[in-house]
Amino acid sequence: MPITGAARLAGIMGWPIAHSRSPALHGFWLQEYGIDGAYVPLAVAPEKLEQALRALPALGFRGCNLTIPHKQAALSIMDRVDEFAQRIGAMNTVVIAPDGSLEGSNTDVFGFRENLREQAPSWSAASGPAVVLGAGGAARSVVAALTAAGIAEIRLANRTRDRASSLARDLAVPEARITVCPWEQRGEALSGAGILVNTTSLGMEHEPQLEIDLAALPASAIVVDIVYVPLETGLLAAARGRGNQAVDGLGMLLHQGRPGFAAWFGSAPQVTPALRHAMLATFAPAH
Ligand code: ATR
Repeated sequence: MPITGAARLAGIMGWPIAHSRSPALHGFWLQEYGIDGAYVPLAVAPEKLEQALRALPALGFRGCNLTIPHKQAALSIMDRVDEFAQRIGAMNTVVIAPDGSLEGSNTDVFGFRENLREQAPSWSAASGPAVVLGAGGAARSVVAALTAAGIAEIRLANRTRDRASSLARDLAVPEARITVCPWEQRGEALSGAGILVNTTSLGMEHEPQLEIDLAALPASAIVVDIVYVPLETGLLAAARGRGNQAVDGLGMLLHQGRPGFAAWFGSAPQVTPALRHAMLATFAPAH
C-alpha cells in the first residue's frame, strides 16, 4: 500500500535485523486495515542503541520493537518500564508517549497467554502444575505469564541448573511455587502436570530434537512448543500421537505484536488464519 507524507511510523531495532519476521507481520496488518503507516527494519549496532532510541521521538516515530541483542540493554534507557519487563529483565516494545518520553514493555507474556487462550481455550491455571523446559529469555516470559495466570506450581528443568535457579529466584511470587528439577528428570517431572512448555531451542530446524519421555504426562495436559520452525515439532507430533492437545509457537509470535501495533497505528489487530498462512509462507525454504 502506498504511504503518504502523513504516514505513522514504527519499526524494529536489532543487530542483525535482516532475519526478522516482524516487518512482514506488521506489514500484513497495515495492508489489511488500510492504514497509512510503515513498519521498517532498523539495523542498530549495540553501541548506537541509546542514540537510536532517543532519536525516535525526534524523527516522529510512534515507537518500535526490539530484538536481539537489545532486549535487556534498552531497559535502562526507557523513561518508564512496565511490570513484566522489569521482572523478566527484558523488553521488546517501545511506545513514544505524547510528551516524547519512552515507555518500555514486554509483550511476550501477552503473546504466550493469548496464544494459549486461542489454541487451548480449555486450559486454566487450575488444570495442574506446569512443567517448563529451558531457562532463557523465552522461559522467563512463559513463567511470568503462568504466574500471572494464577498457576500454583511450576517445575522448571534446564540443562544448566544454575540458570533455572536464577530464573526461579527472579520471578518468584508468593502465590506460586517454582521448583527446579534436574534436566535428566524432566520426564518424571511430568507426573500430574496440566501443561508442558518447551522454551528451549531443541526441536528447531537445524537443532537436535528434544528428547523427553512423555509416559508420565496426563492425557488431559496441554503441550506447548514455542518453536515455530518447523511448526509441527517432534514434541508436538509425539504429544498429538498420544492424545494430548498440542499448541504451536507461531501464535505467540503473532500475538506478541498486537499491543505495539494497536499503540502505534491505532487499530487493534487480529490473528487470523490468513495471517498465519501469510507468515508461514515467509518460512518457506526459498527464504
Ligand atoms: P531464548 O532467549 O530464546 O530463550 P537462550 O537464552 O539461548 O534463548 O536459551 C536457550 C535455551 O535452550 C536454554 O534453556 C538452553 O539451555 P542452557 O541454559 O543450558 O544453555 C536450552 N538449550 C539449548 N541447546 C540445548 C541442548 N542441546 N540441550 C538442552 N538444552 C538446550
